[in-house]
Amino acid sequence: MTVRPMRWWDIPRVHHIEQACFPQDCWSVDQFWRELAGQTRDYVVADDDGAVLGYAGISTISPDSDLQTLAVDPHNQGAGIGRRLLARMLGCARERGATSMILEVRADNTGAQKLYAGAGFETIATRSRYYPDGSDALIMRCRPLPDLTDGVTA
Ligand SMILES: CC(C)(COP(=O)(O)OP(=O)(O)OC[C@H]1O[C@@H](n2cnc3c(N)ncnc32)[C@H](O)[C@@H]1OP(=O)(O)O)[C@@H](O)C(=O)NCCC(=O)NCCS
Repeated sequence: MTVRPMRWWDIPRVHHIEQACFPQDCWSVDQFWRELAGQTRDYVVADDDGAVLGYAGISTISPDSDLQTLAVDPHNQGAGIGRRLLARMLGCARERGATSMILEVRADNTGAQKLYAGAGFETIATRSRYYPDGSDALIMRCRPLPDLTDGVTA
């Protein structure tokens, strides 16, 4: 498996994973098109011999980077793909000169929180009723940005 830049032709498959992972508040196809066109954006996919299994994206205005999205196809979760995508995003942010990354995660999404904590993110705030269904969000920040590429073939 490789982690490579997302291309426009990946969008239908990425959107399929998006709908499976975020049924209540998934992004539209147009949103992915806009993100790919953004000069401050880095979007990548996990590609297993032509099969897209996950994706992630950041927005960076140095010194701050924002993890916009991260998702792995439900059939392929728990195999280390999310960790590799996050490592690549941290690397992209560093290449753009960022020294911190911030993200929002649902308060009940403990699996994702564990992934982020393992990479060095800490919870710095809670936003009440942040999501359309009334769920709270945790704001997590990683600072400084670690180099997690050691031992990870991204
Ligand atoms: C969160 C998500 C991206 C993780 O990707 P993944 O490929 O399944 O995660 P990995 O296999 O790389 O796991 C890395 C670490 O994350 C943690 N983790 C991930 N999923 C977990 C779960 N369901 N329960 C507990 N810990 C979990 C573990 O610490 C794990 O390390 P370990 O296996 O050594 O214990 C994936 O589950 C997903 O797409 N979920 C739905 C969308 C989502 O919630 N995105 C994040 C939005 S903020």
